[in-house]
Amino acid sequence: MDDKDLSQPVATDRAPAVESVMAIAKHPIHPMLVPFPIAFLSMLPLTDLAYLWLGDPFWARAGLWLNIGGLVLGVVAAIVGTLDLVLVRVARRHVSAWSHFIAAVMVLALAALGVWLRLPDPAAAVWPWGLVQSMTVAGMVVVAGWLGGSLSFHHGIGVYGHTKLDDDPGDDAPPAA
Ligand code: HEM
Repeated sequence: MDDKDLSQPVATDRAPAVESVMAIAKHPIHPMLVPFPIAFLSMLPLTDLAYLWLGDPFWARAGLWLNIGGLVLGVVAAIVGTLDLVLVRVARRHVSAWSHFIAAVMVLALAALGVWLRLPDPAAAVWPWGLVQSMTVAGMVVVAGWLGGSLSFHHGIGVYGHTKLDDDPGDDAPPAA
């Protein structure tokens, strides 16, 4: 066996805090938007199961609207996320940035598939393909959300850090000896 290094390529000079470009007064916009598609699409299997259990078409219609809302707000969040990915060079160096991007595109494609499936007849669409789609999209939301969380909480993307004490002691400078 040769001794090739098969570990993931990780940038050596990563910054502990990487400012987001798409932000309002140091508050990144993408994290403000993602709770909506995450909540809508992860509720989708529940409305499908509620319809299958109770037989009330209200739940099938609710599922259609959750699916539409998840797709529309997911696209809005993805546009802002993509602008950050394009504009923040350090973000593009992370493997999890590209994994997050691919997982997010899969979420949006599955959400679009669900709208196409449910729109003509929301109740008829639920079993079996609606449920397959909702379970799959909810699973992919977990994957995409987890990888997005790695970007924010592990790699510090969208974090407005402070300068190190050594570089700029500021008001916290220890009293002169
Ligand atoms: C397809 C295009 C997308 C790109 C390029 C993208 C890119 C990014 C980037 C660069 C971050 C780091 C934080 C920031 O810069 O604001 C991030 C965080 C995150 N993204 Fe995305 N994203 C995309 C779509 C999505 C979608 C569709 C979801 C959810 C369904 C999502 C969920 C998240 C989450 C949960 C975080 C962590 C945010 C937090 O701190 O709470 N992203 N994404």
